[in-house]
Amino acid sequence: MSTNPFEVFVEEHNHGLAALEKMEQGADSLRENGYSAEALRLIKEANEFIKTEVKAHNQKEEDALFPVLSPHMPSPSIIDVIVEEHRELWDKEEDLQGLLSSLLGDHQELWAEEDRLESLLNSPNAADNAAAIAESAYNIIYMLRDHIDKENNILFPSAQSILSEIEVAKVSELMGL
Ligand SMILES: [Fe+2]
Ligand SMILES: [Fe+2]
Repeated sequence: MSTNPFEVFVEEHNHGLAALEKMEQGADSLRENGYSAEALRLIKEANEFIKTEVKAHNQKEEDALFPVLSPHMPSPSIIDVIVEEHRELWDKEEDLQGLLSSLLGDHQELWAEEDRLESLLNSPNAADNAAAIAESAYNIIYMLRDHIDKENNILFPSAQSILSEIEVAKVSELMGL
């Protein structure tokens, strides 16, 4: 495994995106064909992955990456450090602090929606809740894809230009790499 924290995070994002593909297959099937045990199984499996692996991943970002970046706040502005081709993705005149609080907010919103999906999936009449389950799954898919996009294309390139080699090594160490 790589000891570069950004490679590890991106690899974990790819696993997260694969789980979202599965969740989307299940949600599409519920929407188009109504309830089926198979559709529910796909959503449950993806949900399980998000609750465990994605949760651990987000925790690592919060425990290892964000604290090492925080001495660099409130400057610099993301606009100053972000590489040219990614600028259109982040249209706000944000500084690093703004970006990090928005990403932390995403983490919290994701768990709120996860709780909602979880209780729908565990309810004894899941078959009657097919539409609500699909809707909640789509919310998660939309939120998490957007979040991963922001991290891959804005946070990580910015962090790599802001952090020194020693600081990157510190992130690796905090991640246990
Ligand atoms: Fe994140
Ligand atoms: Fe992430």
